[in-house]
Amino acid sequence: MERFKPVIELAREEDMPEVIRILKTCGNYFEGEEEWLARSRTLVARYEGRVIGARSFEKLVNGYYHVYGLCVDPAYRGRGVGADLCRHVEEIVYHEGGVGYIGEALDEELAQFYVRKLGVKICRFSLRGWRSNLVPYRKEFRQEGIGDSIKLSIRRFTLFWIRIRRLRKIVELLESASRRVKQV
Ligand SMILES: CC(C)(COP(=O)(O)OP(=O)(O)OC[C@H]1O[C@@H](n2cnc3c(N)ncnc32)[C@H](O)[C@@H]1OP(=O)(O)O)[C@@H](O)C(=O)NCCC(=O)NCCS
Repeated sequence: MERFKPVIELAREEDMPEVIRILKTCGNYFEGEEEWLARSRTLVARYEGRVIGARSFEKLVNGYYHVYGLCVDPAYRGRGVGADLCRHVEEIVYHEGGVGYIGEALDEELAQFYVRKLGVKICRFSLRGWRSNLVPYRKEFRQEGIGDSIKLSIRRFTLFWIRIRRLRKIVELLESASRRVKQV
């Protein structure tokens, strides 16, 4: 059986009314969505010339990207289009040197969809989640910061200390062996 493989590409201006129509049908359309979309980039999944799904993303000032607006036409769901769109956006963010991305799932089940398909982490304590009923999530491509540096230093020091103790034990064994030889 031929694999269903829509083309995923950057949306053209004329695609946007269709993107908004699908967002509305999916219940993932928010007040002011058009302005958000205008300052973002949108990837669309296109099949036989028709837009059947979309995912938008915008670059934030801190090296992170904000991803949002995932939607797939109900007639084409369950065939990997949603996950493919998410992975394509992730690839772009990664190749542009982004630190990672943040997003908000509409509910807990959808947050688990992002965990399963993308390996994101749900941010239980994020203010973004408290202000709304959405479930915030994030994914980072690198780990750094003072916390990581401290953990690394502690690990290095512990390893160094274990090696020194082992070395001391070897020296003690050698000394006691040489003492015994001398006594004989
Ligand atoms: C969520 C959505 C984008 C998935 O698109 P899709 O093309 O069907 O996704 P895929 O085929 O890649 O993946 C299918 C998976 O999505 C899961 N899924 C679909 N709708 C879901 C929902 N409402 N909640 C949780 N999981 C859902 C399916 O259970 C399936 O899981 P599995 O692969 O582990 O069996 C699509 O259902 C949709 O447009 N929903 C309405 C809009 C929406 O909720 N957008 C996300 C806002 S956070």
